Amino acid sequence: MALMRKNEKKVFITGGTGLLGHYLIKTAPDNFSLGCSFFPASKRDAIPYNCDKRYMDIGEKKSLLSLLRAVKPDYLVHTAALADVDYVERNKDEARYVNLGGTLNIIEACKENRTHLIYISSNAVFDGENPPYAEDAGTNPINYYGELKVREENAVIKSGLKYTIIRPILMYGWNLVLERKNPVTWLIESLKKGVKVKMVDDIFCNPLFAEDCAGAIWRAVMLGKEGVFHVGGNDEVSRYEFACITAEVFGFDKKLIEPVKNSYFAQISPRPKNTTYCIDKIRRELNIFPRGVRDGLEAMKAAKDASA
Ligand SMILES: NC(=O)c1ccc[n+]([C@@H]2O[C@H](COP(=O)([O-])OP(=O)(O)OC[C@H]3O[C@@H](n4cnc5c(N)ncnc54)[C@H](OP(=O)(O)O)[C@@H]3O)[C@@H](O)[C@H]2O)c1
Repeated sequence: MALMRKNEKKVFITGGTGLLGHYLIKTAPDNFSLGCSFFPASKRDAIPYNCDKRYMDIGEKKSLLSLLRAVKPDYLVHTAALADVDYVERNKDEARYVNLGGTLNIIEACKENRTHLIYISSNAVFDGENPPYAEDAGTNPINYYGELKVREENAVIKSGLKYTIIRPILMYGWNLVLERKNPVTWLIESLKKGVKVKMVDDIFCNPLFAEDCAGAIWRAVMLGKEGVFHVGGNDEVSRYEFACITAEVFGFDKKLIEPVKNSYFAQISPRPKNTTYCIDKIRRELNIFPRGVRDGLEAMKAAKDASA
């Protein structure tokens, strides 16, 4: 852990190799001492940032409790999860063990250490029939990933802990090497090879640059905010429009992208039609104004250019 200054608060992030996890580490304000978990054990060196890196399987209660007893964080941001919606639908037992079981273990550790829990949920708690969604809208998940998120949120709410629930919407950004791709890094890889892709034009949301999500979470931590927050980008687009703007920004041929209907894909897991968020609360209470699609993609591109 970075050298502790007097009265410095400790923040621990689960899922340090993940998309959101690594943007959180990268953008952490320096008035916190920072720790993060990696999984599996071979991935310690995958996290290219200086912080206290600890191996943790969130499903393994005993070792998780003893690790967090030693770290005793003031805040814990719980991003670790099986986050591939189709994988979760196909592997329900494993997903229940990791996502729900892991969150229950994290809750228990936070209770022991009086830690403020920042739990990362999802737009998948909604059915997508009544956008735009504000924080007080009723949940009604239509896939198993969303069902687990609702059960996890309820466990957090009933825990008696100080808690903040962050519900990011579809996120994009640079994933660490060998980590799960997101719609933008997947598309860039396909278009670079000249591969034709089909994108649905009847599923909508307001996509979010992962760096903006990390910014909202850090602001909530710094202000000690509790409750539920919807974090989405500034523009509502279909997945097809999102892909076309991505091609434009990264300089690829848009003609490689063909619009299709969602019914074209024999998906394992149903997708909500339109989960676009109302983001007034983060503007008002966190003073956070996430970028729209083009600005977010331009910022993502510039960050890679700068690191090349
Ligand atoms: N990405 C999105 O569009 C999106 C949208 C809404 C909500 N969310 C939620 O936001 C959170 C972060 O998503 P993300 O996109 O950053 O996910 P991600 O890139 O897939 O990262 C997930 C992280 O969890 C870790 N992990 C998986 N199983 C674990 C286990 N048993 N023990 C410890 N760590 C484990 C992964 O480790 P390895 O990969 O190294 O094994 C990885 O570091 C998740 O809760 C997700 O459900 C994501």
